[in-house]
Amino acid sequence: MSWVDVLRARETDFRRAPSAHNTQPWTLDYRADEVVIGTDPARALPGSDPTGRDLALGLGAFTEACLIVAADVGLSVACDLGDPHRIRLVAAPARYATTFTAAEVAARRVARGAYTPGVVLPESVPGLDAGLVHLPSRALAADLEVADRWLFGTPASARELREWLRLDPADPRYHQDGLTDRALELNRFEARVLGMALRAYPMMSRLGGPALLAASGRGLLRYDGSVWVLTARGSNSEMGRGIDRERDLRQDGRRLLRVWLTLARHGLAVHPLSQLLDCPATAARLAERVGATPLAVFRVGRPVREPVSSFRLTPSARSLLR
Ligand SMILES: Cc1cc2nc3c(=O)[nH]c(=O)nc-3n(C[C@H](O)[C@H](O)[C@H](O)COP(=O)(O)O)c2cc1C
Repeated sequence: MSWVDVLRARETDFRRAPSAHNTQPWTLDYRADEVVIGTDPARALPGSDPTGRDLALGLGAFTEACLIVAADVGLSVACDLGDPHRIRLVAAPARYATTFTAAEVAARRVARGAYTPGVVLPESVPGLDAGLVHLPSRALAADLEVADRWLFGTPASARELREWLRLDPADPRYHQDGLTDRALELNRFEARVLGMALRAYPMMSRLGGPALLAASGRGLLRYDGSVWVLTARGSNSEMGRGIDRERDLRQDGRRLLRVWLTLARHGLAVHPLSQLLDCPATAARLAERVGATPLAVFRVGRPVREPVSSFRLTPSARSLLR
């Protein structure tokens, strides 16, 4: 059995990597002595992620998950992020140096419900690399409402949200991908209202629906908690262009997964709030607050309830979709 076959047998493990809207936008091409990771354009989010930031971060996180799983099964594998169109996993002289395991990759999950009050500073968590800025959650509460109003009020974002929401367990795609009612911690009533509002777009938009939907998340940051911002390092900048920007963002996506895994190791969960970066007004204010280019923003804390595990396409289901 070649190393490629051994890694392929563990595909279910590295498919646990996170992706925006749980679109799982990666494609895998298993070759004789390399694995080529690409992107499925049908699973990109051009409306809510027009700069491709989250797509590149997600690809980086997926690559990191592949490397951790490979190391865990004793394979010496490295990645080549130089090509903007694909990522290559190649044989390497030594195993990838990581302390994370495939079990930790599999167990990680975001938590979108309530967190117990309490501030978590990056410097209080051992093993984190630099580039994380702490903000008190209340400081971003008003901006989150603005960003949510933007999210629900921008037709392309609202359309993508509707496409990737899985609010009914009878949906044939419920167990495959997207955001389920349970992952969003919505009760039956909330799931119904959200589903109806997004189906009734654009009428709902004209009737002030975005403001109402945004108001429903008003309490999310109004507690004594923490929001962390992952910032670009050194000369890396989201504003950069072309190949360099793409490669930097993929490296940042690898870093993002390592941060989330480190937090999980300490019993801490995350809840990304990317709308704060997608909405131009709140993104500009956030950049000013942190004095750097923000790449990802997420609540950090101890969830009151154990979050559910989200679904993934199985390798066989994915190959049938091709
Ligand atoms: C780059 C990136 C951006 C994300 N943005 C958001 C977000 O704005 N809101 C949110 O609730 N989840 C966000 N997520 C989390 C994904 O929705 C989540 O990873 C996916 O649903 C799979 O769930 P899991 O991480 O619990 O396995 C983001 C994930 C990534 C990698």
